[in-house]
Amino acid sequence: VTKQLRRNISETALFVRQCLSKPEQMGAIAPSSRGLAKAMARWVSADPKAVVLELGPGTGSITEALIARGLTGHRLLAIEKSPELAISLQKRFPGVRVITGDAWDLENLMDLHVEPGHHVGAVISSLPLRRFKPEATESLARKIKAILRPGGCWVQYSYHLGSDRPLGTSYFHLLSSNVVWLNLPPARVSVYQKPLSEPSSN
Ligand SMILES: C[S@@+](CC[C@H](N)C(=O)[O-])C[C@H]1O[C@@H](n2cnc3c(N)ncnc32)[C@H](O)[C@@H]1O
Repeated sequence: VTKQLRRNISETALFVRQCLSKPEQMGAIAPSSRGLAKAMARWVSADPKAVVLELGPGTGSITEALIARGLTGHRLLAIEKSPELAISLQKRFPGVRVITGDAWDLENLMDLHVEPGHHVGAVISSLPLRRFKPEATESLARKIKAILRPGGCWVQYSYHLGSDRPLGTSYFHLLSSNVVWLNLPPARVSVYQKPLSEPSSN
């Protein structure tokens, strides 16, 4: 219990330091709660050939829930922009492939890190989407759609509790959208599914 408590304190301290130095990039006031992490992680695919991509893992609350869902190292890829957070995450979860990189560089990172024969079954994102310019969000949505397998899910949380959808998510079906109240602050988990087939253009 003491070890766990010490780890929670040091992760929260790291999170707060990052929030103070990079408020726009962090876009949050506290690490995700266990309830939020579970609500995000339940959407991962059971397919052993499917890689799960985590964007903006931060201190790793959601990474931990993904591991608890049975995701072994090679199936979980985490992309974190902050080098300090990425180093801390890699220490905490040596089996997970943590990449220090930018989510907008998705295609290149996928080419480098997803083995042939595997595909991306789900994208689990903690990125503070509403802090970015709408055009940036739209371009990220296109990139996520390009790397996800048909029928795969993009799971995104937001502190914006309204039901309006960020730009770019219209390329997906809205599969689910629920508020997790036990989080600081409460958060809405939205699940966007890539269509199984594209509507024909004629
Ligand atoms: C809301 S915080 C994540 C909180 C996380 N769920 C936790 O419990 O610690 C957002 C995270 O996204 C990361 N981030 C922001 N912009 C990014 C980008 N362009 N590429 C990758 N990660 C990014 C931030 O560094 C931060 O760790």
